[in-house]
Amino acid sequence: MKGIILAGGSGTRMRPLTDTLSKQLLPVYDKPMIYYPLSVLMLGEIRDILLISAARQLDMFRSLLGDGSRIGLRIDYAEQDEPRGIAEALTIGAEHIGGDQVALILGDNVFHGPGFSTVLRGAISELDGCVLFGYPVKDPRRYGVGEIDASGRLRSLEEKPDRPRSNLAITGLYLYDNDVVDIARDLKPSARGELEITDVNQVYLERDRARLIELGRGFAWLDMGTHNSLLQAGQYVQLLEHRQGDRIACIEEVALRMGYISADACYAMGRELGATGYGEYLVDVATRETSRTARPSRAEPTGP
Ligand code: G1P
Repeated sequence: MKGIILAGGSGTRMRPLTDTLSKQLLPVYDKPMIYYPLSVLMLGEIRDILLISAARQLDMFRSLLGDGSRIGLRIDYAEQDEPRGIAEALTIGAEHIGGDQVALILGDNVFHGPGFSTVLRGAISELDGCVLFGYPVKDPRRYGVGEIDASGRLRSLEEKPDRPRSNLAITGLYLYDNDVVDIARDLKPSARGELEITDVNQVYLERDRARLIELGRGFAWLDMGTHNSLLQAGQYVQLLEHRQGDRIACIEEVALRMGYISADACYAMGRELGATGYGEYLVDVATRETSRTARPSRAEPTGP
């Protein structure tokens, strides 16, 4: 499966923060926002990724992530010259997708909760059509909204409805089979002039090939479109990281845990960051991994 991260939009609601910096590079506590969706793709075993952003921002993403090889990925870059809607990512990315399936994720979405990578990998391995992830929110009118029946089957989808039929927001992570390339190519702009991702999902729903997975209570889905939501996401990450000592969306650690890089490589990246909390964390994670793998397991004989 291929991956696409859309780090587009002009971030007008977050000016002046976004006058010179892409929204998706703003700090969410201790790391750039883009690390959070990137780590989601990595946990889904997706290593061939296209990052789409405005031309003037691409160099900043390139200097941050390079070609991805440091963390065992392949990252390519493409430009969205005007914010013409989320679904345009699928036509810009058509060549990247080729004949494969694709996971599209928005560059300002944080997903965090126990068992998420298992759910994601399960959804990817069973993908047939499209998979959407629903999350209960207090104000669904701000989002794409999904309505499900008593058995949990998706019944309807609406983009930012005035009168939502449910409180289930459709989150910014979408899994598609290869039909999505043709579906996206045939889309027409909506009344607000955008190629709507909800219209893509609607086609799958009409073909009875859309499935919704509910991310329930206890899960955190955050999107960062305003100063308040950016701060809240940072506070969420700070709280958990301080309490537990583990870092969320630390892409080098994810690369190590997924077997994309060696403990030595993780260690070296930590050292390179010098005396920073993030660098020390990487050194610590790598050192623990080295001693864990060096230690003989209990089942093995320990000597004569
Ligand atoms: C977009 C989608 C919407 C989805 C949301 C998730 O909204 O159009 O369906 O629920 O992302 O973050 P936007 O961020 O463009 O307002």
